[in-house]
Amino acid sequence: MNKVLVSLLLTLGITGMAHAAGDATAGQAKVAVCGACHGPDGNSPAPNFPKLAGQGERYLLKQMHDIKSGNRPVLEMTGMLDNLSDQDMADIAAYFASQKMSVGAADPELVKRGEELFRGGKLADGMPACTGCHSPNGAGLAAAGFPHLGGQHAQYVAKQLTDFREGDRTNDGDAMIMRAIAAKLSNKDIAAVSSYIQGLH
Ligand code: HEC
Ligand code: HEC
Repeated sequence: MNKVLVSLLLTLGITGMAHAAGDATAGQAKVAVCGACHGPDGNSPAPNFPKLAGQGERYLLKQMHDIKSGNRPVLEMTGMLDNLSDQDMADIAAYFASQKMSVGAADPELVKRGEELFRGGKLADGMPACTGCHSPNGAGLAAAGFPHLGGQHAQYVAKQLTDFREGDRTNDGDAMIMRAIAAKLSNKDIAAVSSYIQGLH
């Protein structure tokens, strides 16, 4: 696990790369258009739109750059980031990161299997636990760009895991960490772990 983490940190270039610092107050004035889908404070009311509130700043900024460049295609957001500068996006990331992600509830039928997967992984298949990178309470590791998952909509999470598995989301980079993990998850596993994540805090 530690080896994986270290090589991932190196791949992501955690050590170097200075980014323009985001200003949350300035960011708040730039998110009116985003609020329609993601909610004014980033707690989206719709299960297919991800919550951005309380998400790590570094992760948010990376996703915005990936969506803008087409590295992570998001049809619903076509053209929306085109007129935003790097500073605008840094400010927006800082704003959403400063909010608090709301928490939902897990399906009581799925929660046990979901917890087993999240905390224990599938060791027989060589799949590590999610906790190693996303932390036991799902808070992630903001400085490393490991996203906050706790409270995220199950429907959105399930779509991401399926997209990683099917190769429809490839912006986890050359290390292919999430594609390798999702490859070990069945549809049932995905439903269970996504439901667990929705109620996790
Ligand atoms: C019309 C609806 C819509 C609007 C408006 C919208 N988004 Fe999105 N956004 C989405 C959808 C849908 C996804 C997830 C797509 C998927 O399933 O992969 C997404 C994903 C994201 C993500 C990735 C989240 C994650 O957890 O990986 C970020 C960051 C984001 N949007 C930022 C923004 C910002 C900033 C704005 C405003 C400038 C904005 N969005 C406006 C629909 C929208
Ligand atoms: C070795 C570290 C690592 C492990 C272990 C790991 N992840 Fe991830 N995960 C990441 C990274 C890094 C990303 C962000 C990829 C990117 O930049 O797009 C990510 C992204 C995600 C996303 C997308 C979040 C969003 O908002 O779109 C989901 C969902 C996710 N992981 C779920 C899981 C689950 C469930 C497990 C366990 C079965 C797991 N991860 C194990 C590192 C890890």
